[in-house]
Amino acid sequence: MSDQNPVFIPGPTNIPDRVRRAMLVQTSDHRAPDFAATFAPVLDGVKRVLGTAGGDAVLFPASGTGGWEAAVANTLSPGDRVLMARNGMFSARWIDLCRRHGLDVEVIDCAWGAEAAADRYAAALESDRAHTIKAVLVTHNETATGVRSDIAPIRAAMDAAGHPALLFVDCVSSLASMPFEMDRWGVDVAVSGSQKGFMLPAGMAILGVGPKARAAMETARLPRGFFDIRDMMSANATGGFPYTPPLALIHGLRESLEMLFEEGLDAVYARHRRLADGVRRAVDAWGLRLIAERPEIASDTVTAIAVSEGVDATALTDHAYAAYGVSFGVGLGPLAGRAFRIGHLGSLTDVMVLSGLATAEMAMADLGMGVELGSGVAAAQEHYRTTRTAPVAAAA
Ligand SMILES: Cc1ncc(COP(=O)(O)O)c(C=O)c1O
Repeated sequence: MSDQNPVFIPGPTNIPDRVRRAMLVQTSDHRAPDFAATFAPVLDGVKRVLGTAGGDAVLFPASGTGGWEAAVANTLSPGDRVLMARNGMFSARWIDLCRRHGLDVEVIDCAWGAEAAADRYAAALESDRAHTIKAVLVTHNETATGVRSDIAPIRAAMDAAGHPALLFVDCVSSLASMPFEMDRWGVDVAVSGSQKGFMLPAGMAILGVGPKARAAMETARLPRGFFDIRDMMSANATGGFPYTPPLALIHGLRESLEMLFEEGLDAVYARHRRLADGVRRAVDAWGLRLIAERPEIASDTVTAIAVSEGVDATALTDHAYAAYGVSFGVGLGPLAGRAFRIGHLGSLTDVMVLSGLATAEMAMADLGMGVELGSGVAAAQEHYRTTRTAPVAAAA
């Protein structure tokens, strides 16, 4: 099977050659002064992508899940009450992780396909006059359903209620692909990972930590060792790491940041929007529907597509992989077998996305799903052809 086919899972994403080459480094001493010279600009670059001036960028050798744990364990105490919407598998998992840490989670259950309901956050915060809620958690981009939730209205609800809780946002599948404004949205901890918009292998949790979260760490009582952000920040301040850093990934991140800044963050976001719009047009042409309840909340990094009654979506993704060597995302949780997902984030061009849509059509035709070959591709082609901009640097 060729390893040249792009992946269409919503992360890990395709790794550009430039990034792969940048990671081919010989071992070097992470206690030598030149480590700081490599590392400091990487942290600055991550801050720029996060949209923070006052916050710190923190990298742990972990995945996004480790980032969730770091956010919670550093800022909260056993029994603390937190508030979170559950509208898909990833928000459900963060809730589960909070519970395993002994937190008391007030869950706002939303339909899988709906956004995290800002009005319900507002109501819960308004009624919490005693300010027992210590943190508000939101998944910016629910990768299981392909739904984006706006963070600004949730921050506005907190401000309107005069509520002092911390705001934690999971931006694992949105950061570096969709606009993210840590300072403007008043996010206290942002959690992401290396393997999506940053176009790297999995292996680093990438966090933004604001001043209010830093202050909370002084009194928080949940145990933390490996994920102690204070240890990390004090080592980082002198150009070091509290333990052995994932050097190859840090070199890769330096390169991926360079690629993102060369293309320009606004252009990166616009590219993701265009690619996503093409995919959505294809889904429409196939006569299928999005899991996202409304077009305006559909994610620009992943599209979750409901298959018709009687069709097994997992058989479709299995077949696409076996017959054509192309991976799409499976449906997760209650969507298993009922939906499949097309990931369209990271290093991707119009042409690459068209190849994924063409493959999905072939696989659907093979399984007798009644999709006309070329229908979705043509719809996306028309969109890409008529909205074409400059050639895409990030996919080089
Ligand atoms: C929105 C979201 N949050 C968290 C995670 C968990 O991240 P990881 O698999 O890197 O631990 C993922 C993974 O896909 C995700 O999409």
